[in-house]
Amino acid sequence: MTVSRKFPNSRLRRTRFTSVIRSLVAENHLTVDDLIQPIFVKEGLDGIESIDSLPEVNRFGLNALDDEVARIQENKIKAIAIFPVIDPLKKDDRGTESTNEDNLVCEAIRQIKKNSELAVIADVALDPYTSHGHDGVLDSNGYVDNDDSLPILVSQALTLAKAGADMVAPSDMMDGRIASIRNMLEEKGFVNTIILSYAAKYSSKFYGPFRDAVSSSASLGSGSKDTYQMSVANIDEALHEVKMDIEEGADIVMVKPGLPYLDVIKSVKETFKVPTFAYQVSGEYAMLKAAIQNGWLSEEVMMESLLSFKRAGADCILTYAANQIAETLNK
Ligand code: PBG
Repeated sequence: MTVSRKFPNSRLRRTRFTSVIRSLVAENHLTVDDLIQPIFVKEGLDGIESIDSLPEVNRFGLNALDDEVARIQENKIKAIAIFPVIDPLKKDDRGTESTNEDNLVCEAIRQIKKNSELAVIADVALDPYTSHGHDGVLDSNGYVDNDDSLPILVSQALTLAKAGADMVAPSDMMDGRIASIRNMLEEKGFVNTIILSYAAKYSSKFYGPFRDAVSSSASLGSGSKDTYQMSVANIDEALHEVKMDIEEGADIVMVKPGLPYLDVIKSVKETFKVPTFAYQVSGEYAMLKAAIQNGWLSEEVMMESLLSFKRAGADCILTYAANQIAETLNK
């Protein structure tokens, strides 16, 4: 800080005088290129279905997916993150359906890639597929077994890469998963498949509406993910996680949740200077939407919240509001 001009030489209000001047001096901008739309596809669903805890977000049947993809493309959004809601009868304790090459998410990816230019991000984690709702498999004590989970996650990632996913996004927080997935992708010739690592993913209570959306909350019950997702108290550990994931072969790292963790986004970006995404998770979105719907907050809080991610250093934001915000930005 070298500036030492004093009042009235320095009146900071001069550059706030008109909206034109304000936009000229704006330090950060939110554009549609910053937005990624998560979408839920549901097996056996005809058309669309709303989600109680996520206002204005829907689950889509495969027969309703093309219209939504067209809307996202019209809004000039470049990427989507896809999450499956599978037939409960297909869930088992090892998440077997996750590695079926004709499973719901693979079908959806093929359909989207055939009909659009969108980049598709596919989650690597077993929770939509396990009867217990955990991201990995359990040992005989009910503990999520790291090394037993890895080969399943690796074959899930291969299944997704084969289906055409541009990015595989491990969100499971097992140790060593990035190296295992990277080795497999190189070996199988998927040298340009991006690994978007949910590197600093906290064991947050802000994921509630998402777990309703993919109906894993019923399976998980009162169980928590504290033994694999990060403690909400830590930031040094987040930098450690990110460092390991970059060394193991991650191309892009993610911090999640977003708004309560802007300090983490900022530290990660400043420390590593690699592409850094952030996830405005379901609970953050639901919280703002609920207040907006009650008339307690104005709709502009969504934009303000997302701009704060840019200020913190995020290159891209996954947000359920992507379509809505894009429509405003494109006006
Ligand atoms: C699955 C996964 C979760 C989210 C993204 N991938 C839930 C969880 O870890 O329990 C959360 C997204 C959100 O809340 O919007 N591993």
